[in-house]
Amino acid sequence: MATPIIQAEGLTKAFGSNEVLRSVDLELATGERVALIGPSGSGKSTLLNCLGGLERVDGGSLIFDGLEMQEMGGDALAALRRERLSSIFQFFHLLPTLTAEENVAFPLRLLDLSSEERDQRVEDLMDKVQLTPRKHALPEQLSGGEQQRVAIARALAIRPKLILADEPTGNLDSVTGAAILELIESLTEAYQTGLVLVTHSLEATRICHRTLRMRDGVILEEGV
Ligand SMILES: Nc1ncnc2c1ncn2[C@@H]1O[C@H](COP(=O)(O)OP(=O)(O)O)[C@@H](O)[C@H]1O
Ligand SMILES: [Mg+2]
Repeated sequence: MATPIIQAEGLTKAFGSNEVLRSVDLELATGERVALIGPSGSGKSTLLNCLGGLERVDGGSLIFDGLEMQEMGGDALAALRRERLSSIFQFFHLLPTLTAEENVAFPLRLLDLSSEERDQRVEDLMDKVQLTPRKHALPEQLSGGEQQRVAIARALAIRPKLILADEPTGNLDSVTGAAILELIESLTEAYQTGLVLVTHSLEATRICHRTLRMRDGVILEEGV
């Protein structure tokens, strides 16, 4: 079997006396999509931040793509985030002064790619998210759904092993949200990109292979 993208065992994380992750186990295969549901405050975003190397866990083992993240320094973690994983957020987080296509190209500027390869990826992704006619628009000129499509293209530009998505449809109406989910599903499938999708929406769990439920800092059970 191929190396799992994530192998997490016994992850713990506290903020002061608040034990937010109490013992989290999680394994994700290459190209696997997992939904993470659970009440507000149960630790979903904190887990995502730890998986993405934005927060450090206090204990346990967290192996991403064969690398023990606990043993990595800040530079190595930053490189891992730059080269192998991407995030999608509820509020899009596009750079407001850059056009749609410049936002998609932005994460590629630090990768060792030819300018032809860069341009080709951006053009191809703008087409896949159906925004070629809007490629010169600024984020403020785009609807919420269009902004999230830019964010999806940007997330995929580096060809990450894993995308971490925190409530990506939380700020969209249900029709737009459904279209965004379909796009996330089809593109992560096409590129065999792993996905951890934090969501409140049962609709969103349908694009995933598995659904995990979190409560009080542990993953309770499989299935909705
Ligand atoms: N940076 C932080 N500093 C202190 N406490 C935090 C921080 N981030 C999250 N928490 C606390 O951790 C708990 C879990 O939060 P979070 O991971 O955001 O849950 P969820 O995403 O499931 O709603 C909450 O009690 C929250 O207040
Ligand atoms: Mg959250």
